[in-house]
Amino acid sequence: MFDTQLKLNTLKHKIMISKKLEAAINDQIALEEQSSRIYLAMASWCESQGLSGAARFLYQHSDEERMHQLKFVHYLNDRGGYAMLQALPQPGTQYKNMEELFDQVLKHEQHVSKKINDLVDICLEERDHTTNNFLQWFVTEQIEEESLVRSVVDKIKLLSGSTAGNFYIDNFLAGLASAEAAAEASE
Ligand code: FEO
Repeated sequence: MFDTQLKLNTLKHKIMISKKLEAAINDQIALEEQSSRIYLAMASWCESQGLSGAARFLYQHSDEERMHQLKFVHYLNDRGGYAMLQALPQPGTQYKNMEELFDQVLKHEQHVSKKINDLVDICLEERDHTTNNFLQWFVTEQIEEESLVRSVVDKIKLLSGSTAGNFYIDNFLAGLASAEAAAEASE
């Protein structure tokens, strides 16, 4: 009897998220995984070019995107949906320079922000306050990520074209990577 009630409760819990949100979150899971792969590919390119600071910064961000992906996977499964992985396109392999690379990062993050906002819109349509609440962490995270990447792009544009500029940017990115690692360790 107790077991049956438990199963019924679990079942009730498991039909809470809508099919529309389940599909949209699965697309977001793919986008976060693709973000991780894009930054991993970029990190590898930077490392191959001797840009160790930029590589470290991007390896770190690749890991963060994987963590974002996992947050969505766990959330969807916890809410009675099913997180399913999708096939992904090959990320870029060549970049002209750091300016082009970080312009692409910024455009990608702006795209991710739009997709998070689209998810919030679905939650509002469906009055799914729980998922809306869960998504607010990502809304804040996207503001921070866009602002951080914009500051990198601005610095690169200011210093582009000179070897000393590249050296300075690479060191600046190494510093950002260390600061982020320290902040994470203290959380
Ligand atoms: Fe998880 Fe930077 O988007």
